[in-house]
Amino acid sequence: MIKIGLLGLGTVGSGVYSILEKHKENLKSKVGTELRIEKILVKDIDKKRDIDFDKALLTNNVEDILENPEIDLIVELIGGEEPAYQYIVQALKNGKAVVTANKLLIARYGQEIMGLAAEKGVSVSFEASVAGGIPIIRPLRESFAANKIERIYGILNGTTNYILTKMTEEGQDFQLALKEAQKLGYAESDPSSDISGTDAAYKIAILSSLAYETAIDIKDVHIEGIENIEIEDIELAKELGYLIKLLAISKFTPDGIDIRVHPAFIPEYHPLASVNDVYNAIYLYGDSVGDVMLYGQGAGQMPTASAVVADIIQASKEIYYGSPDINGHIYKNDHKVKDISQVHNSFYLRLQVKDKPGVLARIAEVLGRNQVSLASVIQKHRYAPVVPIVLVTHQVKEENLQKSIAEFKNLDEVIAINNIIRVEEL
Ligand SMILES: NC(=O)c1ccc[n+]([C@@H]2O[C@H](COP(=O)([O-])OP(=O)(O)OC[C@H]3O[C@@H](n4cnc5c(N)ncnc54)[C@H](OP(=O)(O)O)[C@@H]3O)[C@@H](O)[C@H]2O)c1
Repeated sequence: MIKIGLLGLGTVGSGVYSILEKHKENLKSKVGTELRIEKILVKDIDKKRDIDFDKALLTNNVEDILENPEIDLIVELIGGEEPAYQYIVQALKNGKAVVTANKLLIARYGQEIMGLAAEKGVSVSFEASVAGGIPIIRPLRESFAANKIERIYGILNGTTNYILTKMTEEGQDFQLALKEAQKLGYAESDPSSDISGTDAAYKIAILSSLAYETAIDIKDVHIEGIENIEIEDIELAKELGYLIKLLAISKFTPDGIDIRVHPAFIPEYHPLASVNDVYNAIYLYGDSVGDVMLYGQGAGQMPTASAVVADIIQASKEIYYGSPDINGHIYKNDHKVKDISQVHNSFYLRLQVKDKPGVLARIAEVLGRNQVSLASVIQKHRYAPVVPIVLVTHQVKEENLQKSIAEFKNLDEVIAINNIIRVEEL
């Protein structure tokens, strides 16, 4: 029998408990022995809960789990940095295997946690930390192990994907789409981590660390959110044959890892363009397997619990058969992240300019001097003193584009720079 200590009985914890109860017999035959929840840590023992369970299992004293020598495996579903970090470290030091859904902890302390696990000869698994119900951690560690992963594109945040879908399909503005996402429970009352791109950045950092076997510091990930996307940008993207998605991007290049999260134009015919609402997807390229796309629910109680239970099954098998998977748990390389200023992209620029002769020539002159060449120009004639103009560049080095933008700010003819969005041809 494998005895499990569950830390947290909230949204995901309750889902995990239900699956372990509902599929008890099936899981027993899959693992070869019974999986039993021995104790459950919560903050408030008297809280009313939606599931039926044995209340005698509850404790608010973590030592009942971490110092119980009979417990083989802890499942951390508290979330956040502390006390989850301390609990995981103490569990590993006490020789217990760990399963967690905590992206923040793995992104910030993955290297250290995996190192400690390897030292203690136990496993640490975190399938649910990225893209909820979509299997991607184990595929990266095992199924794609024969590959050199060259690039990963992800739609890794359901809240922002829902908002952009509503803006694209129903013409809702950002604030309205956000309110609707909150009403439906897709966005939290404080949605800043989702909207700002931070949540997706943790996830692409974890995927990149595994893919390139290098610890990625979250501070090195260039992050932009979707808060400045306006309906005009969505409409112009469509006119040019693109959709706007919050894209998490990671590319292995000879001069460093290009890793970033930002809104991007993507071609309307690309499979990622059809990933809508709260769905997530990961599109990667490996040198043997070629292009692969994984699609599914990136959050929610049962999809996330499904990933956690998959980890519990695997970790339990390893404990039961005495063969913990500790190989490949430490990042072996020390690849550097490329500074965003050195990355090449094409860009969409939406400007407001004075409607007078020679304006385009002035803009083209600034761009030309900074080695930025144009792929297309859209000028909407409105017979007004100020008119919108849209430029799409060819591939340029980011620092050259930024130099041009700095010069635009000093041009009398340029009234406003409304938006700058990178174009990813994928
Ligand atoms: N929800 C999702 O869709 C989703 C998707 C992917 C990953 N995740 C990850 O899964 C993890 C859990 O998320 P969740 O949505 O299930 O969170 P949640 O609903 O807020 O549940 C947190 C649980 O932890 C307990 N807890 C919190 N602080 C504690 C403390 N100091 N000591 C003891 N117990 C404590 C709470 O106890 P009480 O019940 O007594 O308050 C609660 O049972 C997080 O890392 C999250 O990022 C969630």
